[in-house]
Amino acid sequence: MLNSTNPIVDAHKVTHPDKMAEASTLARQIPAQCHILNPEPREILFFCSNLAISALRSVIEFICENTGLIILSVIVVSLLYILYKCYLSPPIYVKDLTEVGFDHIAQGTDRALHITRAQSARQLGTKLPPPYPNGWYVVAESRDLKIGKVISVDALGVNLCVYRGEDGVARCVDAYCPHLGANLAIGGTVCGNCIECPFHQWRFGTDGACVSIPGVETVPKGVALKTWHTMEVDGAVWMWYDAEGREPLWTVPEAPELKSWAFRGRNEFTINTHIQEIPENGADIAHLNAIHSTSLLTEIGDRFPFLHNIIGRHFWAAEWSRGKEEHLATVNIVHKYLIMKFDAFPIKVTVNQIGPSHVRLRFNSALGPLLVVQSVTPRGALLQHVVHRVYSPRYNAPLGAWMVLAEAWQFKRDVAIWNSKRYVNSPSYVKTDKTIRAFRAWFMQFYSENSIPLKQALQNPLDW
Ligand code: FES
Ligand SMILES: [Fe+2]
Repeated sequence: MLNSTNPIVDAHKVTHPDKMAEASTLARQIPAQCHILNPEPREILFFCSNLAISALRSVIEFICENTGLIILSVIVVSLLYILYKCYLSPPIYVKDLTEVGFDHIAQGTDRALHITRAQSARQLGTKLPPPYPNGWYVVAESRDLKIGKVISVDALGVNLCVYRGEDGVARCVDAYCPHLGANLAIGGTVCGNCIECPFHQWRFGTDGACVSIPGVETVPKGVALKTWHTMEVDGAVWMWYDAEGREPLWTVPEAPELKSWAFRGRNEFTINTHIQEIPENGADIAHLNAIHSTSLLTEIGDRFPFLHNIIGRHFWAAEWSRGKEEHLATVNIVHKYLIMKFDAFPIKVTVNQIGPSHVRLRFNSALGPLLVVQSVTPRGALLQHVVHRVYSPRYNAPLGAWMVLAEAWQFKRDVAIWNSKRYVNSPSYVKTDKTIRAFRAWFMQFYSENSIPLKQALQNPLDW
């Protein structure tokens, strides 16, 4: 009759006296057995904490016994990581439009709306110069434009199609097909050195002329894409923009360093300002010690000024001057990193401004030379895309990688000002501003009779 599998149930079903005694003993033992089979949560917790404590004790004992080995391993792994980042995976640092200069707007669900409101409420100033000066502009970085690749670019108020043909030459044409207006940069294909429209497969040659139409034997004359002059130097493809439609007024040979030096990384910013404000920074000597002085290592000295002498600060002296050719200007900068009165890291920087948008910064320090190439491309009338690419010899790649970040952190301080300032056409110049006045006179050469006025450019849907 004890055919149940549950001993508690079975104990209650027993009727014979001997069996009843046996069953009763069994029933008393069962709770203890069940207790072992089904431990209480408190006991599980107790067991687990004992386990964790013994594991922790073992780890601490291991660390104490092998401290030297562990420190050495951490140093080796860190060094390997740094070398990997410097030589095989150079740092890339990107800051978008709303990421810099909006710290005054509190965090919260509506923050994006408040930033947009701050941007639209901003006064731009009066008598702003035309937004698209004549000159060369980066439309693609060389490493992004492999053979057969097509890139869509919206800049300087035009839509462009940039592609690289089989001959390795980068070309830039108007994006819209003269047939029915499809955008060649979106879905277009590179065929040899031609670009083919995705809509009806009309094909355009290197001079922009239509060379073939499927199903049509004779291509109509005069069907062509507008082509733009391009050059490829300093790791980028540059397009000549000229409001008068002139041939390029100058060209730029490749920086000689790039024959043997290598790419060490890049930083990139999108900024809400007029293009002229950015190169003007190099002629604004007074701002250097005002906003670029705080140590890049930590900003704690700003809160506790007595720490500045211990942590150190950057000190700058600079001179701006016109270059040998009309479209060139130079800034010579001397940098010190002062701890007390000791200059811990002297650097000399020669800045070559080439036209309105191209800058080469050559750094010379005890740790070796570096080249930083800056390009500014107006994505809209008041929307600038700024990229710095860093190059160095092989031996000081770590310095190059550090410069990608250090330069970005310093540049961020300018971006924070640009994103909310207004343009002042006639400032109250003081003695230290004389180079700003000289810079503005020099920069005027990049505007011409048919330069698009800002108001007109702002009506273009590409503009900010
Ligand atoms: S729209 Fe380009 S081929 Fe028709
Ligand atoms: Fe600056």
